[in-house]
Amino acid sequence: MSETLNLTPDELLTTTRSVRKRLDLDRPVPLELVKECVEIALQSPSASNRQHWHFVVVTDAEQRATIGDYYGRSFAEYAESKSAAGNLYADDPERAAVQERVGDSASYLAGVMGKVPVLVIPCIDSGSAELPAANQSGLWGSIVPAAWSYMLAARARGLGSAWTTLHQKFEREIGELLGIPETVHQAALLPTAYFTGETFRPAKRQPLDEVLHVNGW
Ligand SMILES: Cc1cc2nc3c(=O)[nH]c(=O)nc-3n(C[C@H](O)[C@H](O)[C@H](O)COP(=O)(O)O)c2cc1C
Repeated sequence: MSETLNLTPDELLTTTRSVRKRLDLDRPVPLELVKECVEIALQSPSASNRQHWHFVVVTDAEQRATIGDYYGRSFAEYAESKSAAGNLYADDPERAAVQERVGDSASYLAGVMGKVPVLVIPCIDSGSAELPAANQSGLWGSIVPAAWSYMLAARARGLGSAWTTLHQKFEREIGELLGIPETVHQAALLPTAYFTGETFRPAKRQPLDEVLHVNGW
């Protein structure tokens, strides 16, 4: 295993940000480093310990460009919608300012997605082309912790990534491009690159009291 940054567990958990503008598009990322992060992700929980996860790692320039193009098309539609990050909480000046920054950062990423050195698509095999009608938490819960572990392991190694999902509009097209079987569902698209700058700070979140319910709602 390669060296990791000197971060406490709490520092790692509170500073693994969505990295977009600080992705270094010019510095190559060794495949071995990405494999190490995936190896760590495989320690995550999965329903019935099935481990039906797959991580599709895309380094080929043409494939990345094609995925980036799909992502950009989907982002353009999303950016016009009411639920786009930059359009939310307009009536709350403090939140609106943060949302605007997120929207701006997301828009930047949409423009460069195809140029990020490594694109990682964490997937889960449900055994069926259709998503289950019930207990989807069992399905997604068997890949989301692993994908987040991947991001944490990447952060600890000086790599930045961002959880993105807008490629989903073209999930089948991307699946065909990469030969992903129909029973295998894509959970996210994680652009991965070395990050520029020194470190990251914890983000300001909505207060704990608004979301914490002890012994009932
Ligand atoms: C389910 C999910 C979907 C997301 N989809 C996108 C996306 O498609 N594009 C993007 O730029 N960011 C996406 N994000 C990142 C969020 O915008 C980000 O987590 C949020 O603004 C908080 O910022 P932080 O991760 O830096 O703390 C997504 C996050 C989650 C959890």
